[in-house]
Amino acid sequence: MRIPDHILDQIRRDTDIVEVISDFVALNKRGRNFIGLCPFHNEKTPSFNVLPDKGIFKCFGCGKGGDAITFIREHQKMSYPEAIGVLAQRLGIVLAENDTDTSSGEHNRYENAYNALRLAANYFYKNLYLDIGEEALEYVRLRGFSEETVKKFGLGFSPNSFSATMNELHVLGMSDEALLDAGLVGKKEETGRIYDRFRGRLMFPIQNPMGRVIGFGGRRMNDEDKNAAKYLNSPQSLVYNKSEVLYGIFQAKDALRRLGYALLVEGYADLLSVSQAGFQNVVASSGTALTKEQLRLISRFCKKVKIVYDSDKAGINAALRGLDLAVEEDFDVEIVRLPDGDDPDSIIQRDGADAFQFRIDNALSLVDFKGEIFREQGLLNTPEGSTEAVRSIMETIAKVPTQIKRDFMIRSVAHRFSLREADLYAELTKILRRNSFGEQRERSRQEHHHTAGKEQSSRPEQPSSPRQQPPFIITEKLPFDASNTQDFLPSPETNHTPDDALLPEEEELLRIALTMDGACVYMTKKANISEDLFVTNAAKSLFSLIREASAKDGKPLDTLLTQSAQGVEIPPIIHGLAMRRETPSERWLEFDATISQDSMRMVVDCTLKLKIHGLEREIDRLQTRHNAAILANNEEEIFPLLLQIQELDKQKRDIHAQLIRY
Ligand code: CTP
Ligand code: MN
Repeated sequence: MRIPDHILDQIRRDTDIVEVISDFVALNKRGRNFIGLCPFHNEKTPSFNVLPDKGIFKCFGCGKGGDAITFIREHQKMSYPEAIGVLAQRLGIVLAENDTDTSSGEHNRYENAYNALRLAANYFYKNLYLDIGEEALEYVRLRGFSEETVKKFGLGFSPNSFSATMNELHVLGMSDEALLDAGLVGKKEETGRIYDRFRGRLMFPIQNPMGRVIGFGGRRMNDEDKNAAKYLNSPQSLVYNKSEVLYGIFQAKDALRRLGYALLVEGYADLLSVSQAGFQNVVASSGTALTKEQLRLISRFCKKVKIVYDSDKAGINAALRGLDLAVEEDFDVEIVRLPDGDDPDSIIQRDGADAFQFRIDNALSLVDFKGEIFREQGLLNTPEGSTEAVRSIMETIAKVPTQIKRDFMIRSVAHRFSLREADLYAELTKILRRNSFGEQRERSRQEHHHTAGKEQSSRPEQPSSPRQQPPFIITEKLPFDASNTQDFLPSPETNHTPDDALLPEEEELLRIALTMDGACVYMTKKANISEDLFVTNAAKSLFSLIREASAKDGKPLDTLLTQSAQGVEIPPIIHGLAMRRETPSERWLEFDATISQDSMRMVVDCTLKLKIHGLEREIDRLQTRHNAAILANNEEEIFPLLLQIQELDKQKRDIHAQLIRY
């Protein structure tokens, strides 16, 4: 195998590495570069950098780095020629068949499985236009799918035979192992013989965001035959994980970016009809209840979904579940309602694209959707029912991670149900508190489970219900001293922040300092936390404010609220912080030294993470200078900068290690 140099050059020159990697990683712009969560190791704070100018990526967490070709090879587990093939295809470069002929190259199971799937998809597609495919093509026409749609989604036909597909693939050089890994054949327990899984079905190839076929859905063509399942899907396999699959993502991704939202439908047929009607930004969760993984896939391209599920009971329940999940993943969500008995496919086939567009334009917010559903269920006719309805809506709102969005939603609930916002906030606080207890319980249960059997834990049993037993109080010093590591925090003047939205860790620390009597004194005196620790300017000044307010009697919130009542203006976010799940405060009375163990953990955790944030920003800054130095060929600067970056990176990893140990 040999790829001509001019083609390699063209691929290197024209490939946009950000675009390539964006298919797999949500990247955010940081200065000239992009940063995201590394796909090669598990991390919570992003250390995966993409440098578009140089066409390379680098993870400072796990060390992986390289160009677009390396990325595709490692991430898609492809051989070199295959990766070249993928990048060439993106650029519309046509390679001669033997340019990427891998028969002599290194083969692994992934490649073999992918190859088998690709060849199978081709085979099915061709069948559609042969004599054996006559009935299937007729069915396609009956369903109203155009030739263009068939081609765009690569529909096909699997012959009604136990061996036709595998025979064809054997001839093309595929092994039994590859067919099994690809999920194209099943294996008889008793005899060990393999047989074609898909027989006599209209085939829908399922592609990953890059366009590789990873599996199939197959529809029976005769609805009289109730013995056969309506749809048969690929089994879990080496390359197919149904909870991560989104049908249509490859065809939709550009439109998702362009339009900024996804239409989420349930079925294969729905997707084809919607797409054919001109709505390119459509994906289907086909065959599974919507999953977190599917939402994360969408979030690489946009952060808004409009759910268009069937209007039957199952569809409504699925929409309600999807709604909560999407909200939790910080999506903007709307629900498109359809008349009874309809799905997107039937609407479009019967009423046309404009009617569908009209429904999309009139999609409901989560508050309106849930309100409407409860009204239809007759829940709003009684005070008890209404209370239950409002509570259910508040449960969903409690999942929204951003304060501002929650505020808007609460306003709309108040308006819709003629309730006072203050009462809704009280309800929200109750839910958040309960949820946070649930989380804490879960965490301590896991920790307990974790240490059990390893060594005798000296800690007493965690209380099973924090309401009955006070949180465990400890009075020891923190196991680290924030001032020790001051020296490698970025200097203040370099530490300007473009936007002043609080980081989650900052919010958490400020909340603890504000709402727990004595906590702020504890943080400043015992943990040596000062303004310097905070990364954003907003957090720095808020911390000053809280610290000053706590000087009097260790109760900053009381002090600030009193001031506010006396007409002193205090930042509105103080109310927001105070609203957030508060921890019962009875036990913080000994105000200058005690803090609950959970809160202390939280303080340590947030402090370490903030240091990592600070270091990351500094690394980012140095990285930009380093890039500039490389471009300017500034020899004296390049190396020292690299050393500095490495030093900061090492410090970052040390803190990481501390975080994990702790
Ligand atoms: N599904 C499945 N297996 C089944 C039935 C359904 O995997 N036995 C999945 C398919 O992805 C299907 C989706 O669930 O597209 C929705 O199912 P349904 O509403 O029953 O089918 P439609 O999509 O409406 O299919 P059609 O219009 O072809 O009848
Ligand atoms: Mn349908």
